[in-house]
Amino acid sequence: MSDPMTGERKRMREPGTCVVDIASGELTGATNRYAKTLADLAGVYEDEAAYRAMLEKMAGTVVYEVTSYTPSNDAGDMIIGVTRMLPGKIGREFFVTRGHIHARANRPEMYYGESGRGVLLLESPGGDIRTVAFGPRSVCYVPPFWIHRTVNVGPDPLVMTFAYPADSGQDYDIIVKSGGMRSRVVDDGKGGWTVADNAAYRPRSAETVAAILAQTE
Ligand SMILES: [Fe+2]
Repeated sequence: MSDPMTGERKRMREPGTCVVDIASGELTGATNRYAKTLADLAGVYEDEAAYRAMLEKMAGTVVYEVTSYTPSNDAGDMIIGVTRMLPGKIGREFFVTRGHIHARANRPEMYYGESGRGVLLLESPGGDIRTVAFGPRSVCYVPPFWIHRTVNVGPDPLVMTFAYPADSGQDYDIIVKSGGMRSRVVDDGKGGWTVADNAAYRPRSAETVAAILAQTE
């Protein structure tokens, strides 16, 4: 007779725990890590001269870093991680992550604010914009099909925990192809933030939008 535990041992993964270190903005015990410098964000910001000036000051500085616990990339599994973003502005525009839509576009995401003040900037394939402001202890829901990017609108590092289905993947090109996201999060001149139109934005075709929304697996 076959041992029923043999099949189980192949199927099961071990539970785990990681500690969110807010001071360092890292997930202790992370299995994966990547970092972005300002040089990695060429073409993202509207004010090219301000970008080049900041690049000279911040050459090599990590502007955001992601540490994650990635047990697998299997359907049905989950990736948990922490993002830490420096505060700052390029001209009037607050520091942002590159942003993406999930390669499997119908996958959602959760963000939990640990410290700092952030805004999630979301864009539907058809070009609708939403902003979700968050701070410590906020839980944010990113529904399927939304392009999403994080913005640090505060004076301090922004640290947040996230979780998403392990087979989501990230498509960064969708933003590049449209000349950026439709809106930018900018300083309102009164200590807060507001959204401004991105003049370089090129809407997606109806065919492209339909193809994205047709994803079901
Ligand atoms: Fe995502």
